[in-house]
Amino acid sequence: MSVKFAIIGCGAIGSRHAAVIDAEARGSITSLCDCNVMKAEQLDEKYSLGVKCFADYDALLASTNANVINICTPHGLHAEMAIKAAKAGKHILVEKPMALTVADAEAMMTAASDNGVYLMVVKQNRFNVPIALTKKAIDSGKLGRVFMVQCHVLWNRHDGYYADSNWRGSKELEGGALYTQASHFIDLLNWWFGDVVDVKAEIATKNHAIDIEDCGNALLTFDSGVMGALTWTTCVYNKNYEGSITIIAENGTIKIGGPYLNKIEYWDVKAMPLQDDICFVDKPNAYGKYQGTSSNHDKVVTNVVAKLLNERHHVVEGDEGIMSIKAIEMIYNNARVI
Ligand SMILES: NC(=O)c1ccc[n+]([C@@H]2O[C@H](COP(=O)([O-])OP(=O)(O)OC[C@H]3O[C@@H](n4cnc5c(N)ncnc54)[C@H](O)[C@@H]3O)[C@@H](O)[C@H]2O)c1
Repeated sequence: MSVKFAIIGCGAIGSRHAAVIDAEARGSITSLCDCNVMKAEQLDEKYSLGVKCFADYDALLASTNANVINICTPHGLHAEMAIKAAKAGKHILVEKPMALTVADAEAMMTAASDNGVYLMVVKQNRFNVPIALTKKAIDSGKLGRVFMVQCHVLWNRHDGYYADSNWRGSKELEGGALYTQASHFIDLLNWWFGDVVDVKAEIATKNHAIDIEDCGNALLTFDSGVMGALTWTTCVYNKNYEGSITIIAENGTIKIGGPYLNKIEYWDVKAMPLQDDICFVDKPNAYGKYQGTSSNHDKVVTNVVAKLLNERHHVVEGDEGIMSIKAIEMIYNNARVI
């Protein structure tokens, strides 16, 4: 048995999807689509696929035999593309963020359930070793009561990152830096501590000619009672400085950092000392002029295959994907613009 995938959006992350599906023993790519069809053709050639390449998404949906549509396009297109895929009877693997509004995310979930397909969301950082260990420390009760969490996303995005893209920096298509740079972090906070129920925030655009913010601070209250502080920016001089999460709890303190949440910076947990033999193999995505979040897309795809073949899996679905969209929407709705 094998699962057939079609990739829509053959840019930076679509290329990674192609690489990991090509390497997946029980998966194959059967169609590719990009409005710049040359990008689809380049992937077809690179992996010697010999599949049909489409410039038009509707044309792909009308003829592809894929089981799963991998949506790797700009954020503002995710909802419409996912709903069309569901109506065509295709399962969906959508890149983060699932959508730009809660209403869109809900419409996607409804379309998926009405049409009997799965709506799955890429959250590859959940597979990082430090992240999985932290989840274990929280769920086992070994951390005791968690009091506070502090999250820093202090990154550099040079002017060309926005200028060379027809969607980055756009309110309509990117939505905001929280959807791009911070959504993985927010997903983990939701996974560990539940929904965000209260927010105080301020945002500003200080150092880029873009429609969205490039600096922000938010105080978050989670439904578990945990107090959170999130600071995010794309204005750090020269290169990424820090992406970290620090947890202050009754019986332990944890700081996860490294460039891609792939390193334990500090671990002092009473009933769960760090083992010496833990191996950190998470590598960053190569991203042209800069580097993105760490790569566990192979695990995401392997788990999608397992789900479709009715095996044990760790797939994030719409009901969990929507949590970070709710949090982000709440932050922007409550943010004072300065
Ligand atoms: N999981 C992660 O760590 C991670 C990392 C990077 C990007 N992403 C996400 O992946 C998505 C894409 O980001 P990217 O960096 O690959 O962007 P990108 O600009 O490199 O690629 C987007 C591609 O979509 C194509 N496209 C745009 N509109 C289209 C349309 N209507 N029909 C067909 N193709 C269309 C573009 O031509 C482009 O090739 C975003 O949601 C982004 O947040 C996730």
